[in-house]
Amino acid sequence: MKPGSTGAGRGPTACLTGWASVERILVTGAAGLIGRTTTWHFARLGAAVTALDLDDPGDLAADRVVVGDARDRATLASALAGVDAVVHLAAIPAPELGSADQVFATNTAATFAVLDAAGEHGVRRAVIASSINALGYRYGPRPGRPAYLPLDERLPSLAADPYSLSKQVDELTAAAMHRRHGMDVVALRFPMVAGLGGADGLDDRLPGFFDVIAGDPGHAAVDAWLYLETRDAARAVELGLRPARPGAHTVFVAAPETSAPYPTEQLLGAFLPDVSLRRPFPGRTAPVDLTLAGELLGFAAEHVPDLPMRDLEPSPRPGHDAATSQVRRRPHMP
Ligand SMILES: NC(=O)c1ccc[n+]([C@@H]2O[C@H](COP(=O)([O-])OP(=O)(O)OC[C@H]3O[C@@H](n4cnc5c(N)ncnc54)[C@H](O)[C@@H]3O)[C@@H](O)[C@H]2O)c1
Repeated sequence: MKPGSTGAGRGPTACLTGWASVERILVTGAAGLIGRTTTWHFARLGAAVTALDLDDPGDLAADRVVVGDARDRATLASALAGVDAVVHLAAIPAPELGSADQVFATNTAATFAVLDAAGEHGVRRAVIASSINALGYRYGPRPGRPAYLPLDERLPSLAADPYSLSKQVDELTAAAMHRRHGMDVVALRFPMVAGLGGADGLDDRLPGFFDVIAGDPGHAAVDAWLYLETRDAARAVELGLRPARPGAHTVFVAAPETSAPYPTEQLLGAFLPDVSLRRPFPGRTAPVDLTLAGELLGFAAEHVPDLPMRDLEPSPRPGHDAATSQVRRRPHMP
């Protein structure tokens, strides 16, 4: 299919349940990990979905597919036809997946173009994918450490790589688009996202990632052991299109428990011993403040498997550098 061309006629066309004013949703990056599940989720709710991606895999749960680049205004004009709300997920999702210029420029230009074209088209509700990496801890020259835990939306960014910086800029772009177009935009800071299956074509790699992290818990310390199941990510997207307050908002979304089968306070003592803790973290509590996700979006993760908890070995294994070994060996990158 040519860029900008459309495929039609697969799936439902009814209004999204409970949303009289939102009838058609554009999902960019719809063929990707989160996009595929988000498209599936909206289709299940009865929404009409236009999917935009560089390729059409042929099995998306969208009733309309536009093939093309999210930076291209002609493609966007085609994709935005009849659209009431936009979910922008298309991006190069890690710094090593392109040159520094490609990663930064593609991600930031796509976010600007999608939101600006949507605003000009009259769209007033959007969700974009930000990342825990807007904080910049994973991919910089040195692993970053939060000034305190739990992670929250007020921590300053330490971004020093093109991907993390692109996510920080995307959040600024969202705020600018609220000022420019009066558009409400929620930037979701996703942590590691992976799935438990649940339907044909949905990701099922989360249990494998849990196993990797159990064997090498230092691996995920730089992300504070946060994760989110793909269907919960899709639900957060849905709720992000109807925030409790207008404006541009950046919001952490994550499972309330960690991806590791160890007590959180043991993990913190072993791998982040110098980080100040602003509250206790009993059991496997995830060290992230999810207050805004609850208040603004009404979001709480539902797909949270029970990992039987056991004690962490007293010290990291010989040769294991908790501060650095995690950086390049992660199963999936936010
Ligand atoms: N998966 C995670 O763990 C995670 C965590 C945090 C943030 N995120 C963010 O969530 C979003 C989705 O991530 P994902 O894991 O689904 O990524 P993915 O790579 O699986 O999917 C991204 C999709 O976007 C498409 N795409 C890329 N550039 C495009 C462009 N210029 N025009 C049109 N389509 C384009 C790709 O073809 C792909 O299908 C990204 O913005 C990513 O940075 C992901």
